[in-house]
Amino acid sequence: MAKARVAVLISGSGTNMAALLYAAKHPDCPYEIVLVASNNPEAEGLKLAHGEGIATFARAHKGVDRDAFDAIMLRQIQEAGATHVALAGYMRILSDAFVEQWEGRMLNIHPSLLPKYTGLHTHQRALDAGDTVAGCSVHLVTPELDAGPVLGQTEVTIRPDDTADTLAERVKMAEHQLYPRILSAYVSRDRDPEWLLAQVRERAMAQPEADEVSSHGMPCFGIIGGKKFAYVSVDHHGDGKTALLVKISGAEEQAMLIDSDEDRYYRPAYFGDGWIGIRLDLGDTDWDHIADWLAKSWRAVAPKKLTKLMDVAGKF
Ligand code: GRF
Repeated sequence: MAKARVAVLISGSGTNMAALLYAAKHPDCPYEIVLVASNNPEAEGLKLAHGEGIATFARAHKGVDRDAFDAIMLRQIQEAGATHVALAGYMRILSDAFVEQWEGRMLNIHPSLLPKYTGLHTHQRALDAGDTVAGCSVHLVTPELDAGPVLGQTEVTIRPDDTADTLAERVKMAEHQLYPRILSAYVSRDRDPEWLLAQVRERAMAQPEADEVSSHGMPCFGIIGGKKFAYVSVDHHGDGKTALLVKISGAEEQAMLIDSDEDRYYRPAYFGDGWIGIRLDLGDTDWDHIADWLAKSWRAVAPKKLTKLMDVAGKF
């Protein structure tokens, strides 16, 4: 399986970058680091990355406006063939254009239990507030600072004798454990059967009167008290695939689909000509397309009274 290609952006010591980098040396790690880039040519982490044979890039941002600077960074990241960006102590607000370009593929680590304490001086603020627990969060980056969906957190107990420095030290240890774990899970989620099933479930249950049951050990979706319109096949009979099975018109459509993309479509064993298997674990699933398949399959089995209602609703 191809590894995700991660560019890491740093501004300082880069200890989180180092944690990501050393985790990536394990053969099972689902990502590799393809670039470490910085807006600070003096950043300590650059030396470490270079010493480990990782491509580095540094350019001081002074005197370059935000959009132009981000365009320089973007070019380096694209040239490195990165599929994801990991911010690790990158002390520069990114332009909206940059964030949009990487939306859903850019993560950040923040030294607080978000949504508490966005921005700077998180440890002192936690101490001042009399908190008993601090921690760190990995989140997706969205245009609003430190406000994207949280992917994972670790709590760190605050001791009565803690200062901002002693607390920061322990939170850093937690950060170094958390970031590689969450990044690994995130880049491989679209091959994780549980995550794939959840995506199908959300779209299947959005169909009118949909219900989830289990059939032949497979999660499956049908119309309440009626027929089934979708199955999720996970390693069925040891075939190693995660796939969605939906209704089609028959042998001709089945052959046409398989012919159009034989890696994605297949004839599901024991289901006959009226069904098609669509692989969900290829890493490039178009979920809107899957939603369309589910709607079409629902329609193929739905009783007339339901489809008529839908047709009427569709007119408005
Ligand atoms: C970390 O505390 C991280 O949470 C924050 O910036 C700091 C970077 O530290 N975003 P390092 O450069 O990884 O050591």
